[in-house]
Amino acid sequence: MGVNLTEKWERDVRGVRVIDGFLSTAEQVAIVEDVRAVARMAPFIRPMTPRGRPLSVRMTSAGALGWVTDQKGYRYEVRHPSGEPWPPIPVRVRAVWDAVVPTARPPESCLVNWYGPDAKMGMHVDRDEADPAQPVVSISLGDDALFRIGNPERGGKTESLWLRSGDVLVMEGPARLLHHGVDRIAPGTSTLLDAPGRINLTLRVVT
Ligand code: SIN
Ligand code: MN
Repeated sequence: MGVNLTEKWERDVRGVRVIDGFLSTAEQVAIVEDVRAVARMAPFIRPMTPRGRPLSVRMTSAGALGWVTDQKGYRYEVRHPSGEPWPPIPVRVRAVWDAVVPTARPPESCLVNWYGPDAKMGMHVDRDEADPAQPVVSISLGDDALFRIGNPERGGKTESLWLRSGDVLVMEGPARLLHHGVDRIAPGTSTLLDAPGRINLTLRVVT
């Protein structure tokens, strides 16, 4: 993948790096194919919060560790609930990590979130990883999403931005532990996927 950061448009929102249009359409199409292959090996599940409420997104993972939630809590597991190991992180997805955070440790997990037209994600901090000095890299595919960035603590003023297909976002440094969430997606704003919806890939170092 011919990734050249100097040609990309990068902006800073509260210390979060947003690289608009990082992936070409051809790269997005190829990564969607990779995601389909991951989902054939590790099917999407409808996760439950520890309190027993279903999340509106469907999830699966690739990599050595996959993030799961159920009555036992939020955690990383070495296997899909089926008992099978998670498939490897697709090479093209790994290439995005290497391009945008070249000095970071290798990613151990790629969470795949699939948003249907009505799905959203409440404000939260990614805090199930041992080393917050390592970044989080997030790739957006499909319909636009209204992404909200808050503060280290709950509440307070927030800033929202639209994430579009092919955009890449990096949370690192002081921005690594900011609250963030997805208020809604805008169904039908992209034709990348077969149906209205959005896929978000989140790469993380876990241990
Ligand atoms: C997440 O924070 O886990 C997902 C973010 C996104 O969907 O853009
Ligand atoms: Mn998150």
